[in-house]
Amino acid sequence: MKNIKAIIFDAYGTLFDVNSAAEKCKDKIGDKWEGFANYWRTTQLEYTWLRTLMNRHENFWKVTEDSLDKSMQIFKIDPSMKNELLNLYKVLSTFSEVKGVLNELKKKNYKLAILSNGTPSLLNELVKSNNLDNIFNDIFSIEEVKVYKPHPKVYNIPIQKYQIQKNEVAYLSANTWDVSAGGNYGFNPVWVNRKNSIFDKLDYVPKYQIENLSKLIDII
Ligand code: LAC
Repeated sequence: MKNIKAIIFDAYGTLFDVNSAAEKCKDKIGDKWEGFANYWRTTQLEYTWLRTLMNRHENFWKVTEDSLDKSMQIFKIDPSMKNELLNLYKVLSTFSEVKGVLNELKKKNYKLAILSNGTPSLLNELVKSNNLDNIFNDIFSIEEVKVYKPHPKVYNIPIQKYQIQKNEVAYLSANTWDVSAGGNYGFNPVWVNRKNSIFDKLDYVPKYQIENLSKLIDII
């Protein structure tokens, strides 16, 4: 990549492990914990897309709770676990390499930012609980524009703030549709393909694909 001025990270699924809340309860939930975690995540994302299309915005915390309610019913999880799961979602763990890589990047001359569906307070709490307070120049939330990814208004938030060209942004996401949307917008996306998944067919094929963030240093 050439002339990169800002490295912008998606949060949920890219820096923070969305399955870690259910995983921490796997003794109580049992073997179905992973299917439940995946269903919760898929429903949460569907609700963000549907709310944007319906023009009925609610913030990411409301969407997370609503999708949890449905998922707990579908997977027959004891309702008494709801608060525990929600509290764990506020302090999701990072993937193991994240902190080391961010500290390396911090020594270089890039703007480092998060661009996420999360609310500012959720994102600040995640950053704080994982001791990443001094890393990011900015934490951009879709609450500034009240529509969810993949709306182009979202990807425009950091461009407006930094007054740089779209192709001066390296955009990191593990969410394939978010990579497609960032690429179609004009960013240089890097697909963080942690699970050896298959990419989408959404008018964009990413030039860069890495299995975790530690490989970013080599391509940036
Ligand atoms: C986010 C979701 C897409 O952090 O993972 O924006």
